[in-house]
Amino acid sequence: MLEAFENRLGPRTAALAAGADAVCIFVNDVADAEVLGLLASLGVRHVALRCAGFNNVDLEAAARLGLTVVRVPAYSPNAVAEHTIALILALNRRVYKAYNRVRDGNFSLDGLVGFDLAGKTAGIVGTGRIGAIVARLLWHFRSEVVCFDPIENPRVTELGMRYVEIAELWARSDLISLNCPLTPGTHHLVSATAVDAMKPGVMLVNTGRGALVDTVAVIDGLKTGQIGSLALDVYEEEAELFFEDRSGEVLTDDVFARLLTFPYVLITAHQGFLTREALAAIAETTLATLGDLEAGRPCPNELRAQR
Ligand code: NAI
Repeated sequence: MLEAFENRLGPRTAALAAGADAVCIFVNDVADAEVLGLLASLGVRHVALRCAGFNNVDLEAAARLGLTVVRVPAYSPNAVAEHTIALILALNRRVYKAYNRVRDGNFSLDGLVGFDLAGKTAGIVGTGRIGAIVARLLWHFRSEVVCFDPIENPRVTELGMRYVEIAELWARSDLISLNCPLTPGTHHLVSATAVDAMKPGVMLVNTGRGALVDTVAVIDGLKTGQIGSLALDVYEEEAELFFEDRSGEVLTDDVFARLLTFPYVLITAHQGFLTREALAAIAETTLATLGDLEAGRPCPNELRAQR
């Protein structure tokens, strides 16, 4: 039997899982040691993530408590890669401004100047399933694509795209796309030092996870023009904001509010995955995985703590 709850999983809502064998959670649910301990004490045995990223789950605590954690490793990397390109094009050609202007009877072109992607250098950080597609799509735009990833992906090199050190990627790229997972090693990968090392006026795009970016450092970069434009589908503190209609509320996150004041900042609320195909694949894979666990079959989507 499936039972759906609107509430986000956290210490105060874990009790809702009483009587369940598994809980099925998403990107902004909290599955830290405390919450996993509560779930285990209620008899829950499995935690199924309806997403690829798993930075919100304490895998070591899960292992200690005997909880199995599974995810959907790849539901539609195209969905996220295509949204990344949508953000790049919309931000570069100021489509979000033009849309509102034309509807308002304002046909001025002031402030709408973009740049050709052809001939520009695009830096891709993380060339796994999603990043490799972003790289290939930008390659089709005739950008020069440079990549950074500790593990090289042959689908990238076979098109002639090159891997470089991160310092070279920061220094050379006109546009940078973050497509790596959030781990202790990638937390605030875009720091104040990284921003200073970037090409002045760079376009920064983050569809990975919010905390890949030190938002305050990026705001400082936007103020000085070191960062020319910014597109985000994820935000460090998004758990307190995203996936709800808050249009009637006062925005209390001053950092997020500051981001909204810049003319060349485009933010979507974690919708990179949101295509019909991806949603169907997420549901099918999650149900199949839970079926495997229930039947005691080997489960390729199980996550284990790295020792
Ligand atoms: P993946 O596991 O296929 O690829 C991740 C790549 O990042 C791997 O090649 C890995 O070697 C690389 N990597 C690890 N540490 C790195 C570092 N320090 N610097 C550069 N690269 C590094 O994952 P996939 O499917 O491509 O997803 C990437 C991330 O995108 C996910 O972890 C998730 O956080 C995010 N995502 C966002 C979605 C959205 O709706 N905005 C939806 C799905 C995923």
